[in-house]
Amino acid sequence: MSKLEKKFPEGFLWGGAVAANQCEGAYNEDGKGLSTQDIAPRGITGPITEEPTEDNMKLIGIDFYHRYKEDIKLFAEMGFKVFRTSIAWSRIFPNGDDAEPNEKGLKFYDDLFDECLKHGIEPLITISHYETPLALSKNYDGWVNRKLVGFYENYVRTIFGRYKDKVKYWLTFNEINSVLHAPYMSGGIFTDKEKLTKQDLYQAIHHELVASALAVKIGHEMMPDAKIGCMILGVPNYPLTPHPSDVLEAMRQDREILYFADVQVRGAYPKYMNRYFKENNIKIHMEPGDEEVLKNTVDFISFSYYMSSCATADPEKKKAGSGAGNIISGVSNPYLEASEWGWQIDPQGLRYILNLFYDRYQKPLFIVENGLGAVDELVTDEKGNKTVIDDYRIKYLNDHLVQVAEAIKDGVEVMGYTTWGCIDLVSATTAELKKRYGFIYVDRNDDGTGTLGRYRKKSFYWYKNIIATNGEALQ
Ligand code: BG6
Repeated sequence: MSKLEKKFPEGFLWGGAVAANQCEGAYNEDGKGLSTQDIAPRGITGPITEEPTEDNMKLIGIDFYHRYKEDIKLFAEMGFKVFRTSIAWSRIFPNGDDAEPNEKGLKFYDDLFDECLKHGIEPLITISHYETPLALSKNYDGWVNRKLVGFYENYVRTIFGRYKDKVKYWLTFNEINSVLHAPYMSGGIFTDKEKLTKQDLYQAIHHELVASALAVKIGHEMMPDAKIGCMILGVPNYPLTPHPSDVLEAMRQDREILYFADVQVRGAYPKYMNRYFKENNIKIHMEPGDEEVLKNTVDFISFSYYMSSCATADPEKKKAGSGAGNIISGVSNPYLEASEWGWQIDPQGLRYILNLFYDRYQKPLFIVENGLGAVDELVTDEKGNKTVIDDYRIKYLNDHLVQVAEAIKDGVEVMGYTTWGCIDLVSATTAELKKRYGFIYVDRNDDGTGTLGRYRKKSFYWYKNIIATNGEALQ
């Protein structure tokens, strides 16, 4: 690719992303209530516990709550234009249904956002990122209950009012479509996944979609300059073979993702869902005014992208070929290699999904998660500094960004790119620390040992150069 062909638009939002529950720690400090994560020591791969247990790495996380100033300084050193994090709902409303917010929680995010702005970094804030207040989960069954819409509305009014002069970019729900696969983590639904009826699941989704549209409406009223986006877990499906049944199966699986974006971007349920609801005996209960509220559509579409997947209509092949994946897992692609956690690596899939979204919606796109979870080895370099030689991570990110450049050349409007876990943090699906994504190594291990010290990896300097050259240094 020639230099000219790698042009990223001026003002492209380069940065990194984290979520409160995976990095802050301080799970019970300054009035914070428990969240669904505080009793899920194995992420979505294990059972939930009665009480928080010491083996839950998220209780301390990487202690971002106390060390954020040092960390943001390092992000600034890399040249970040934007930093994505989330607000822990239970820091603001400890039980979710409280009458008054917790001032200490509000103050923490005031200070955090001020610190970003001091360094010229725009905060990009996820309102709900897998951290529903536990009381809402236990007492109301999470989003199955319509009352959650009101509690969420109260929460967004509070945070929009408080941070309207500090935060311009907002996301309503992290990976909203993941609720189909991880109802507890994503939707705070306490009922066991195996016992959850489709009726309740799709009603819960309706509540989230109404709440999201309501947040867009309120946000636009309270903050005319704000940009409010949806956030989709993006795993595009390729047909495993050219057999028409596989092609249709890929379309069906894609619609499990696109249905959420269709509602949030177009403002109404897509027609193909009517057939699904009918055939599955699902009756979405709409309150008067819901259809009007849904018409408040998002300003941009954000999504995570780690992998693609294959779809087959053949049950035998489906059984034999199932691979590991990011919450949604499908059939492995024989042409792709996988990460140490079995997630298949497909940089071209990022170009593909960018085009898929843009062809369908013609709205600006923001890649808010992408990265490689890997085991890193801390070594000492010739100058005596501790570092990680993470050439594998540099290659992964480089190859994906080259495909972003290709999509921009295709005509896709891309606002920005934030790598996932720009500083090492606790993983969402398995709650491990050894699955590292960062440019910054954090000395903490799954057995709880470590100094919590921060060390720049080789990729730190690489990303700094990519940002400084606005992508021209990509290979
Ligand atoms: C996304 C989530 O699904 O994937 C993040 O939004 C998560 O919260 C990321 O951390 C990577 O997944 P994992 O399991 O490797 O942490």
